Amino acid sequence: MNQENSHNLLKGKKGLIFGALDDRSIAWRVAIACKREGADFTLTNAPIALRFGALDKLSEETGAEVIPCDVTDYDQVKELIEAAKKQHGGLDFILHAVGMSPNIRKKNDYTSINYRLMQQTLEISAISLHRVLQACVEKEALNDGASVVALSYIGAQRVFSKYSDMNDAKALLESIARNFGSRLADKEIRVNTISQGPTKTSAGSGIKGFDAMYDFAELLAPLGNPSADECADYCITLFSDLTRKVTMQNLFHDGGFSTNGISEQLIYELAELNKSKES
Ligand SMILES: NC(=O)c1ccc[n+]([C@@H]2O[C@H](COP(=O)([O-])OP(=O)(O)OC[C@H]3O[C@@H](n4cnc5c(N)ncnc54)[C@H](O)[C@@H]3O)[C@@H](O)[C@H]2O)c1
Repeated sequence: MNQENSHNLLKGKKGLIFGALDDRSIAWRVAIACKREGADFTLTNAPIALRFGALDKLSEETGAEVIPCDVTDYDQVKELIEAAKKQHGGLDFILHAVGMSPNIRKKNDYTSINYRLMQQTLEISAISLHRVLQACVEKEALNDGASVVALSYIGAQRVFSKYSDMNDAKALLESIARNFGSRLADKEIRVNTISQGPTKTSAGSGIKGFDAMYDFAELLAPLGNPSADECADYCITLFSDLTRKVTMQNLFHDGGFSTNGISEQLIYELAELNKSKES
Protein backbone atom coordinates (compact mmCIF):
# COMPACT_ATOMS: atom_id res chain seq x y z
CA MET A 1 0.00 0.00 0.00
CA ASN A 2 1.53 3.31 -1.09
CA GLN A 3 1.24 5.72 1.83
CA GLU A 4 3.53 8.32 0.25
CA ASN A 5 0.77 10.52 -1.11
CA SER A 6 -1.52 10.26 1.91
CA HIS A 7 -3.05 13.42 3.32
CA ASN A 8 -4.68 11.48 6.16
CA LEU A 9 -8.01 12.96 5.08
CA LEU A 10 -9.98 9.99 6.43
CA LYS A 11 -7.92 9.26 9.54
CA GLY A 12 -10.14 7.48 12.08
CA LYS A 13 -13.12 7.27 9.72
CA LYS A 14 -15.11 4.06 9.26
CA GLY A 15 -16.88 3.12 6.08
CA LEU A 16 -18.75 0.66 3.91
CA ILE A 17 -17.88 0.15 0.24
CA PHE A 18 -20.27 -1.52 -2.22
CA GLY A 19 -19.32 -2.75 -5.69
CA ALA A 20 -15.64 -3.74 -5.90
CA LEU A 21 -15.47 -6.64 -8.36
CA ASP A 22 -11.95 -6.57 -9.82
CA ASP A 23 -9.06 -4.15 -9.82
CA ARG A 24 -10.63 -2.07 -12.61
CA SER A 25 -13.77 -1.40 -10.53
CA ILE A 26 -14.21 2.19 -9.39
CA ALA A 27 -15.06 0.85 -5.90
CA TRP A 28 -11.79 -1.09 -5.84
CA ARG A 29 -9.82 2.08 -6.57
CA VAL A 30 -11.87 3.95 -3.93
CA ALA A 31 -11.05 1.26 -1.35
CA ILE A 32 -7.31 1.60 -2.06
CA ALA A 33 -7.56 5.40 -1.78
CA CYS A 34 -9.58 5.18 1.47
CA LYS A 35 -6.91 2.95 2.97
CA ARG A 36 -4.20 5.36 1.84
CA GLU A 37 -6.09 8.19 3.60
CA GLY A 38 -6.30 6.30 6.89
CA ALA A 39 -9.86 4.86 6.87
CA ASP A 40 -11.08 1.45 8.02
CA PHE A 41 -13.96 -0.09 6.14
CA THR A 42 -16.04 -3.13 5.24
CA LEU A 43 -16.30 -4.38 1.66
CA THR A 44 -19.46 -5.88 0.21
CA ASN A 45 -20.71 -7.32 -3.04
CA ALA A 46 -23.36 -9.77 -4.28
CA PRO A 47 -22.68 -13.41 -3.30
CA ILE A 48 -22.26 -14.38 -6.97
CA ALA A 49 -19.71 -11.59 -7.51
CA LEU A 50 -17.74 -12.86 -4.50
CA ARG A 51 -17.55 -16.27 -6.14
CA PHE A 52 -16.34 -14.98 -9.50
CA GLY A 53 -14.59 -11.75 -8.54
CA ALA A 54 -11.28 -11.14 -6.80
CA LEU A 55 -12.46 -9.42 -3.64
CA ASP A 56 -10.34 -11.60 -1.33
CA LYS A 57 -7.24 -9.98 -2.83
CA LEU A 58 -8.54 -6.49 -2.01
CA SER A 59 -9.56 -7.66 1.45
CA GLU A 60 -6.01 -8.88 2.10
CA GLU A 61 -4.49 -5.70 0.73
CA THR A 62 -6.66 -3.36 2.81
CA GLY A 63 -7.37 -5.47 5.90
CA ALA A 64 -11.11 -5.03 5.27
CA GLU A 65 -13.69 -7.66 6.12
CA VAL A 66 -15.95 -8.82 3.28
CA ILE A 67 -19.68 -9.28 3.90
CA PRO A 68 -21.82 -10.67 1.05
CA CYS A 69 -25.05 -8.83 0.25
CA ASP A 70 -27.41 -8.80 -2.70
CA VAL A 71 -28.65 -5.20 -2.68
CA THR A 72 -32.05 -6.23 -4.09
CA ASP A 73 -32.87 -8.13 -0.88
CA TYR A 74 -33.84 -5.83 1.99
CA ASP A 75 -33.24 -8.49 4.66
CA GLN A 76 -29.67 -8.97 3.41
CA VAL A 77 -29.13 -5.20 3.34
CA LYS A 78 -30.37 -4.84 6.94
CA GLU A 79 -28.10 -7.69 8.08
CA LEU A 80 -25.14 -6.07 6.34
CA ILE A 81 -25.78 -2.66 7.88
CA GLU A 82 -26.19 -4.20 11.33
CA ALA A 83 -22.94 -6.17 10.94
CA ALA A 84 -21.01 -3.13 9.66
CA LYS A 85 -22.33 -1.04 12.57
CA LYS A 86 -21.31 -3.73 15.04
CA GLN A 87 -17.86 -3.92 13.47
CA HIS A 88 -17.16 -0.18 13.38
CA GLY A 89 -19.51 1.23 16.02
CA GLY A 90 -21.10 3.51 13.38
CA LEU A 91 -20.35 4.53 9.78
CA ASP A 92 -18.75 7.79 8.61
CA PHE A 93 -19.01 7.08 4.89
CA ILE A 94 -20.68 4.81 2.36
CA LEU A 95 -19.83 4.30 -1.30
CA HIS A 96 -22.65 2.96 -3.48
CA ALA A 97 -20.97 1.76 -6.71
CA VAL A 98 -23.56 -0.73 -7.88
CA GLY A 99 -25.13 -0.93 -11.31
CA MET A 100 -26.34 -3.51 -13.80
CA SER A 101 -28.95 -3.75 -16.55
CA PRO A 102 -30.06 -7.23 -17.64
CA ASN A 103 -31.71 -5.55 -20.67
CA ILE A 104 -28.34 -4.18 -21.79
CA ARG A 105 -26.76 -7.57 -21.18
CA LYS A 106 -29.41 -9.22 -23.34
CA LYS A 107 -29.05 -6.44 -25.95
CA ASN A 108 -32.74 -5.50 -25.69
CA ASP A 109 -33.31 -2.17 -27.39
CA TYR A 110 -35.05 0.59 -25.38
CA THR A 111 -38.19 0.34 -27.54
CA SER A 112 -38.52 -3.42 -27.07
CA ILE A 113 -37.58 -3.63 -23.43
CA ASN A 114 -38.43 -6.52 -21.13
CA TYR A 115 -40.26 -4.98 -18.14
CA ARG A 116 -39.32 -7.70 -15.68
CA LEU A 117 -35.68 -7.04 -16.52
CA MET A 118 -36.23 -3.29 -16.37
CA GLN A 119 -37.56 -3.74 -12.83
CA GLN A 120 -34.31 -5.59 -11.99
CA THR A 121 -32.25 -2.75 -13.51
CA LEU A 122 -34.03 -0.24 -11.26
CA GLU A 123 -33.88 -2.50 -8.18
CA ILE A 124 -30.13 -3.12 -8.53
CA SER A 125 -28.95 0.24 -9.78
CA ALA A 126 -31.21 2.77 -8.02
CA ILE A 127 -33.72 1.47 -5.46
CA SER A 128 -30.78 -0.29 -3.74
CA LEU A 129 -29.55 3.14 -2.59
CA HIS A 130 -32.93 3.73 -0.95
CA ARG A 131 -32.74 0.29 0.68
CA VAL A 132 -29.24 0.94 2.05
CA LEU A 133 -30.16 4.35 3.47
CA GLN A 134 -33.49 3.16 4.88
CA ALA A 135 -31.64 0.32 6.64
CA CYS A 136 -29.11 2.85 7.97
CA VAL A 137 -31.94 4.96 9.40
CA GLU A 138 -33.64 1.90 10.92
CA LYS A 139 -30.40 0.63 12.48
CA GLU A 140 -29.10 4.13 13.39
CA ALA A 141 -25.89 3.13 11.61
CA LEU A 142 -24.69 6.48 10.25
CA ASN A 143 -22.65 8.73 12.51
CA ASP A 144 -23.44 12.45 12.65
CA GLY A 145 -21.61 14.20 9.81
CA ALA A 146 -21.39 11.02 7.70
CA SER A 147 -21.07 11.22 3.92
CA VAL A 148 -22.79 8.99 1.37
CA VAL A 149 -21.70 8.94 -2.29
CA ALA A 150 -23.38 7.03 -5.12
CA LEU A 151 -21.93 6.79 -8.62
CA SER A 152 -24.04 8.08 -11.48
CA TYR A 153 -23.70 8.86 -15.18
CA ILE A 154 -24.81 11.75 -17.41
CA GLY A 155 -27.39 9.41 -18.96
CA ALA A 156 -29.60 10.70 -16.10
CA GLN A 157 -29.84 14.08 -17.88
CA ARG A 158 -29.15 13.28 -21.53
CA VAL A 159 -30.02 10.36 -23.78
CA PHE A 160 -27.23 7.92 -24.53
CA SER A 161 -28.99 5.40 -26.79
CA LYS A 162 -26.91 2.35 -25.88
CA TYR A 163 -27.25 3.10 -22.15
CA SER A 164 -30.90 2.01 -22.50
CA ASP A 165 -32.79 1.64 -19.20
CA MET A 166 -29.68 2.62 -17.23
CA ASN A 167 -30.47 6.22 -18.28
CA ASP A 168 -33.73 5.85 -16.29
CA ALA A 169 -32.01 4.07 -13.39
CA LYS A 170 -29.45 6.86 -12.98
CA ALA A 171 -32.19 9.53 -13.01
CA LEU A 172 -33.95 7.64 -10.20
CA LEU A 173 -30.67 7.12 -8.31
CA GLU A 174 -29.94 10.86 -8.34
CA SER A 175 -33.48 11.63 -7.15
CA ILE A 176 -33.19 9.16 -4.26
CA ALA A 177 -29.86 10.73 -3.25
CA ARG A 178 -31.45 14.21 -3.17
CA ASN A 179 -34.45 13.01 -1.21
CA PHE A 180 -32.41 11.25 1.44
CA GLY A 181 -30.01 14.22 1.55
CA SER A 182 -32.87 16.49 2.62
CA ARG A 183 -34.06 14.04 5.28
CA LEU A 184 -30.66 13.23 6.84
CA ALA A 185 -29.38 16.81 6.99
CA ASP A 186 -30.57 17.22 10.59
CA LYS A 187 -27.66 14.94 11.55
CA GLU A 188 -25.29 16.85 9.22
CA ILE A 189 -25.25 13.78 6.97
CA ARG A 190 -24.47 14.49 3.31
CA VAL A 191 -25.78 12.48 0.34
CA ASN A 192 -24.40 13.17 -3.13
CA THR A 193 -23.95 11.49 -6.49
CA ILE A 194 -20.80 11.72 -8.58
CA SER A 195 -21.51 11.64 -12.30
CA GLN A 196 -18.40 9.89 -13.56
CA GLY A 197 -17.22 10.01 -17.17
CA PRO A 198 -16.91 6.71 -19.07
CA THR A 199 -14.42 4.39 -17.40
CA LYS A 200 -13.12 1.05 -18.68
CA THR A 201 -14.49 -1.34 -16.06
CA SER A 202 -16.47 -4.58 -16.19
CA ALA A 203 -19.83 -2.71 -16.06
CA GLY A 204 -18.63 -0.11 -18.58
CA SER A 205 -17.33 -2.50 -21.18
CA GLY A 206 -20.52 -4.62 -20.95
CA ILE A 207 -22.36 -1.82 -22.80
CA LYS A 208 -22.60 -2.23 -26.57
CA GLY A 209 -21.03 0.82 -28.21
CA PHE A 210 -19.09 1.66 -25.03
CA ASP A 211 -15.84 2.24 -26.95
CA ALA A 212 -17.54 4.83 -29.17
CA MET A 213 -19.04 6.56 -26.08
CA TYR A 214 -15.62 6.50 -24.44
CA ASP A 215 -13.83 7.94 -27.50
CA PHE A 216 -16.50 10.62 -28.06
CA ALA A 217 -16.26 11.76 -24.42
CA GLU A 218 -12.47 11.72 -24.60
CA LEU A 219 -12.57 14.05 -27.63
CA LEU A 220 -15.21 16.39 -26.18
CA ALA A 221 -14.01 16.70 -22.57
CA PRO A 222 -11.33 19.41 -22.37
CA LEU A 223 -9.55 17.53 -19.58
CA GLY A 224 -10.20 14.10 -21.12
CA ASN A 225 -11.97 11.17 -19.46
CA PRO A 226 -11.34 10.68 -15.73
CA SER A 227 -9.79 7.40 -14.60
CA ALA A 228 -11.15 5.24 -11.79
CA ASP A 229 -8.24 6.41 -9.59
CA GLU A 230 -9.15 10.05 -10.26
CA CYS A 231 -12.75 9.27 -9.34
CA ALA A 232 -11.47 7.68 -6.14
CA ASP A 233 -9.61 10.86 -5.21
CA TYR A 234 -12.79 12.89 -5.76
CA CYS A 235 -14.71 10.46 -3.51
CA ILE A 236 -12.10 11.00 -0.79
CA THR A 237 -12.79 14.74 -0.79
CA LEU A 238 -16.50 14.07 -0.36
CA PHE A 239 -15.94 11.57 2.46
CA SER A 240 -13.59 14.00 4.19
CA ASP A 241 -14.48 16.86 6.54
CA LEU A 242 -13.45 19.37 3.84
CA THR A 243 -16.88 19.18 2.17
CA ARG A 244 -19.23 19.39 5.16
CA LYS A 245 -21.83 21.60 3.47
CA VAL A 246 -21.99 19.78 0.14
CA THR A 247 -25.18 17.74 -0.06
CA MET A 248 -28.04 16.80 -2.44
CA GLN A 249 -25.77 17.46 -5.42
CA ASN A 250 -25.05 15.60 -8.60
CA LEU A 251 -21.39 16.42 -9.13
CA PHE A 252 -19.93 15.98 -12.60
CA HIS A 253 -16.52 14.33 -12.62
CA ASP A 254 -16.11 14.15 -16.37
CA GLY A 255 -13.21 16.37 -17.49
CA GLY A 256 -15.69 19.11 -18.53
CA PHE A 257 -17.70 16.88 -20.92
CA SER A 258 -21.10 17.96 -19.53
CA THR A 259 -20.45 21.67 -20.19
CA ASN A 260 -18.49 21.64 -23.44
CA GLY A 261 -20.39 22.08 -26.74
CA ILE A 262 -17.75 20.95 -29.20
CA SER A 263 -13.96 20.77 -29.02
CA GLU A 264 -11.27 21.73 -31.50
CA GLN A 265 -10.23 18.08 -31.55
CA LEU A 266 -13.75 16.92 -32.43
CA ILE A 267 -14.03 19.55 -35.21
CA TYR A 268 -10.72 18.32 -36.60
CA GLU A 269 -11.74 14.64 -36.42
CA LEU A 270 -15.11 15.34 -38.13
CA ALA A 271 -13.41 17.39 -40.87
CA GLU A 272 -11.01 14.48 -41.49
CA LEU A 273 -13.97 12.08 -41.65
CA ASN A 274 -15.73 14.31 -44.21
CA LYS A 275 -12.56 14.48 -46.28
CA SER A 276 -12.26 10.68 -46.30
CA LYS A 277 -15.94 10.38 -47.35
CA GLU A 278 -15.38 12.80 -50.26
CA SER A 279 -12.26 11.02 -51.56
N1 LIG B 1 -17.66 2.46 -15.87
C1 LIG B 1 -18.27 3.57 -16.26
O1 LIG B 1 -18.09 4.05 -17.39
C2 LIG B 1 -19.17 4.30 -15.30
C3 LIG B 1 -19.48 5.66 -15.54
C4 LIG B 1 -20.35 6.32 -14.66
C5 LIG B 1 -20.87 5.64 -13.57
N2 LIG B 1 -20.54 4.34 -13.36
C6 LIG B 1 -21.13 3.65 -12.21
O2 LIG B 1 -20.13 3.28 -11.30
C7 LIG B 1 -20.62 2.21 -10.50
C8 LIG B 1 -19.56 1.11 -10.42
O3 LIG B 1 -19.40 0.52 -11.69
P1 LIG B 1 -17.99 0.12 -12.32
O4 LIG B 1 -17.89 0.83 -13.62
O5 LIG B 1 -16.91 0.25 -11.32
O6 LIG B 1 -18.21 -1.42 -12.73
P2 LIG B 1 -18.13 -2.77 -11.88
O7 LIG B 1 -18.75 -3.80 -12.76
O8 LIG B 1 -16.76 -3.01 -11.44
O9 LIG B 1 -19.09 -2.50 -10.61
C9 LIG B 1 -20.48 -2.75 -10.60
C10 LIG B 1 -20.74 -3.55 -9.34
O10 LIG B 1 -22.14 -3.74 -9.09
C11 LIG B 1 -22.22 -5.00 -8.40
N3 LIG B 1 -23.58 -5.54 -8.37
C12 LIG B 1 -24.36 -5.85 -9.44
N4 LIG B 1 -25.51 -6.39 -9.00
C13 LIG B 1 -25.47 -6.41 -7.64
C14 LIG B 1 -26.35 -6.85 -6.62
N5 LIG B 1 -27.56 -7.38 -6.92
N6 LIG B 1 -25.98 -6.71 -5.32
C15 LIG B 1 -24.77 -6.16 -5.00
N7 LIG B 1 -23.89 -5.71 -5.93
C16 LIG B 1 -24.23 -5.85 -7.23
C17 LIG B 1 -21.28 -5.87 -9.24
O11 LIG B 1 -20.97 -7.11 -8.63
C18 LIG B 1 -20.10 -4.96 -9.42
O12 LIG B 1 -19.17 -5.10 -8.37
C19 LIG B 1 -21.95 1.77 -11.13
O13 LIG B 1 -23.01 2.40 -10.45
C20 LIG B 1 -21.83 2.34 -12.54
O14 LIG B 1 -23.09 2.54 -13.15
C21 LIG B 1 -19.69 3.66 -14.18
